[in-house]
Amino acid sequence: MLLLAPSSFSLFLLAFSSCATAHLAAWHKGMYCMKGNQGNDDRNTNDAVQPLYQLQKADWWFHHNNKCDEFPPDDGNVLEIPANGEFTVEHAVNRVFTTLVDNPVLGTYVNGQEYSNLGESREGKEPGSECIVEPNIHTQNETMAAGTAFAISYQSELSAVTQDNLVVFSVLYQTPWKRIATYQAPDLPACPEGGCICAWGWIPNGCGEPSSYMVGFKCTVMNATSKRSIASPSPPAWCEDDQSKCVKGAKQMIYWNQAEGNNVEVDGTDSVGQPKSPGYSAKMGFSNGAQNDIFAD
Ligand SMILES: *[C@@H]1O[C@H](CO)[C@@H](O)[C@H](O)[C@H]1NC(C)=O
Ligand SMILES: *[C@@H]1O[C@H](CO)[C@@H](O)[C@H](O)[C@H]1NC(C)=O
Repeated sequence: MLLLAPSSFSLFLLAFSSCATAHLAAWHKGMYCMKGNQGNDDRNTNDAVQPLYQLQKADWWFHHNNKCDEFPPDDGNVLEIPANGEFTVEHAVNRVFTTLVDNPVLGTYVNGQEYSNLGESREGKEPGSECIVEPNIHTQNETMAAGTAFAISYQSELSAVTQDNLVVFSVLYQTPWKRIATYQAPDLPACPEGGCICAWGWIPNGCGEPSSYMVGFKCTVMNATSKRSIASPSPPAWCEDDQSKCVKGAKQMIYWNQAEGNNVEVDGTDSVGQPKSPGYSAKMGFSNGAQNDIFAD
């Protein structure tokens, strides 16, 4: 007879389900969909991490396809972004692998695990493939990790956020990789009294379906002294082959491979011969860290 304690039994189930479906999101108590999309408080939710691919704009925008945008954070739970400072979120494939639950399963990596040599060994890779599938981070190794970004809109209602007022302000190259992820902020001005809306985005570079990730947050800027305003953002452009094609200044998030609403199109292969994948990296004209060139004045 096999005896399992309830906690190890649920972990066992989770390990199975995460293999099949889990991808990844940035987690913080200020996020939408932290508790899942059922209206209860699901400690094992992965609703926010589901990939977005070939969807109508109304569905991919802020992850409306599974109603994540309809589950705002509890009052008072806001992502606080210090002007000219840094803020930390957790990259994870499921809420249970973050500090956002009691008795979490925390590891150095995004699935609650430790690895001795992830990306340089065969750990997490299937036979015959260079791609890491456990955890499901769509990369071969840290160097190839595509990069992730945060964007901000100076609107207090999610319904007022558009691609013309949502501006990428921080990029973290070579992520997602580990659970703890710290992003740098530029000298952002203060948000309106009702706060701002932020979004996290990730476009993996190969190693699976070329889908996108988008999670909403209630956010605010702390200790803002700047009176500068943020410029209207332009769509970024592929410029790995020609730096003069990089779009300078305030940029939109990357909207790609959806049925409608894309702002980037690429074809052909990149410098290492892989199909071009527009991510938050120098290939799309994004510098690492705080985006200090987003101001209008
Ligand atoms: C804001 O400024 C105060 C006073 O200068 C400082 O004590 C505090 O740590 C700052 N907060 C952040 C989030 O930077
Ligand atoms: C990372 O993976 C890429 C693609 O498989 C490979 O070309 C590169 O050598 C790897 N880098 C390291 C540091 O292992």
